[in-house]
Amino acid sequence: MGRELTAATPLVRIEELSHSFGRLRVLSKLSLQIDEGELVGVIGPNGAGKSTLLSLISGSLVPTIGSVSLAGEDITRRPAHWRARHGVALSHQVPRPFGGMSVLENVLVSASLAGGRRGRAAADAAMTALERTHLAGRANESAGALRLLDLKRLEVARALAADPRLLLLDEIAGGLTEAELPEIIDLVREVHAAGTTIVWIEHVVHALTAVATRLVCLTYGELIADGTPDEVLANPAVRSVYLGLDPEVETPPDDDAREGLHA
Ligand SMILES: Nc1ncnc2c1ncn2[C@@H]1O[C@H](COP(=O)(O)OP(=O)(O)OP(=O)(O)O)[C@@H](O)[C@H]1O
Ligand SMILES: [Mg+2]
Repeated sequence: MGRELTAATPLVRIEELSHSFGRLRVLSKLSLQIDEGELVGVIGPNGAGKSTLLSLISGSLVPTIGSVSLAGEDITRRPAHWRARHGVALSHQVPRPFGGMSVLENVLVSASLAGGRRGRAAADAAMTALERTHLAGRANESAGALRLLDLKRLEVARALAADPRLLLLDEIAGGLTEAELPEIIDLVREVHAAGTTIVWIEHVVHALTAVATRLVCLTYGELIADGTPDEVLANPAVRSVYLGLDPEVETPPDDDAREGLHA
């Protein structure tokens, strides 16, 4: 969105956000601020509410209680398509391509609907997104036939085609091999360096710590830690609840322990 931020206005302000599915309370009075330019990694065990949090920011879910603001504007009741048009893009945990369309057509849909572009401008935005995600060579292939790495690239390409101000990444490294990870990490680094604020949920913690400026840990719908990656990974509550490590040991987990976190 075109709004300029003053120094005191975060890009995202989440206040006392709670969400339930029926009787299941998934998020509980969660408050969080994200400043423009940050790359925030989100960790937490399965079922902690991480994807739900991104759905509440992107607008596919409306919170039971609480508010979400974007650049100072309350968007809690704004629908997902409005948020997409105003700079919020989500790369889904489970890729959701239009399987019957080509890779390029999939990205064109985002450039048009979410990005608000038409004709040549939409085509240029789509091709740029495909090039950034190393998918240009597959532009005319059927999206339904892609392997996992390419599906993840396509999910990110669709998000980038709308030229987001805020990019929400839900486990884009999940399921990839170690050999495939550097490309994804470099992609996130490049998108961030180009000026996009990023929130990245990931179980592959060493991928997150390679690029994140800040880490938060969510457990049972509550934030239990928020700080630099080293601070959060050394936090006793994080170590005991999420890492399954002895909270009495004060040193941060070593790389072996972090790599043991692959989902
Ligand atoms: N649409 C839904 N209807 C009912 N329950 C849901 C729905 N979506 C999620 N849940 C439940 O809400 C809880 C939080 O789910 P969420 O997907 O936010 O967790 P997560 O932290 O992203 O987990 P994971 O690491 O496994 O992706 C889980 O218990 C999940 O089963
Ligand atoms: Mg999830």
